[in-house]
Amino acid sequence: ELKSKIAQFEFENPLMNASGVWCENAEKLDEMKNSSSGSFVTKSATPQLREGNPSPRYVEVPLGSINSMGLPNLGFDFYLNYSLKFQEENPGKINFLSIAGMSMEDNLEMLHKLNDSDFKGLTELNLSCPNVPGKPQIGYDFEATEKILEKAFEFFKKPLGVKLPPYFDFAHFDEMAEILNQFPLAYVNCINSVGNGLYIDTENESVVIKPKDGFGGIGGAYVKPTALANVRAFYTRLNKNIKIIGCGGVESGKDVFEHLLCGAEMVQIGTHLARNGVQVFDKILTELSEIMNQKGYNSIDEFRGKLKSL
Ligand code: DHB
Repeated sequence: ELKSKIAQFEFENPLMNASGVWCENAEKLDEMKNSSSGSFVTKSATPQLREGNPSPRYVEVPLGSINSMGLPNLGFDFYLNYSLKFQEENPGKINFLSIAGMSMEDNLEMLHKLNDSDFKGLTELNLSCPNVPGKPQIGYDFEATEKILEKAFEFFKKPLGVKLPPYFDFAHFDEMAEILNQFPLAYVNCINSVGNGLYIDTENESVVIKPKDGFGGIGGAYVKPTALANVRAFYTRLNKNIKIIGCGGVESGKDVFEHLLCGAEMVQIGTHLARNGVQVFDKILTELSEIMNQKGYNSIDEFRGKLKSL
């Protein structure tokens, strides 16, 4: 029994892709849709199509990945239409639609379109894209975060979640949780990539990605402890009706189990999915079931959030 629930939606299992991975176009989304994952999220959309940054902009490195994608996406209407078709063809099922406007106006425009559309799924407001030169992450500006949520909830009537960047200080966990607790959020997704790391090719004495002198978002094994800390910090601080989606460093059933122990309701896979494709969901589900069997758990709810202290 691997069922998970966010807002009024039930998912057969807690696994998903991390936004940005395997979800930019119809071909990849179809593969996600037909995979054994419990749900899927679309690539963060801007109102209009964007080409993104010049390549190389995504590089696999031994312990994870570094990227400076720059929000390449097919434009909001594509992801909305894909989602409308998905829900029509799969009664009772929904997906997550991610938006990442370059400004308050962009975000409000897309939220209005979603509100006025037949979209029945979960909307994810991405407050944490680290890759657009000159555009600081909203999630590191506490006032701007409060302001966009105030404006959004003035009119937005559908289930809404936010994607957060990682935080590294208790003062920041406390302050952000206090802001988020003011709003009827369906969920909070922790974490986006650890922003602006630098990977170096020693032999060539060079950076490995363009265009910001090699700086980019870090994912994969490097980030798991930071991801688990953020899932745990928000799980223990947020109102119980705000669910947590865990994202960061998941490559195995054991990693999923750890995110669930910290309190995650759904668990997303990014770097590992980008490297291995949608077959990863079968393998990880099998591993998770094996761990649960060994421990004598019949459902996730028997251990979700129940991380022990010393
Ligand atoms: C991109 C990266 C992110 O981490 C994100 O949240 C949105 C977009 C990108 O570079 O495309």
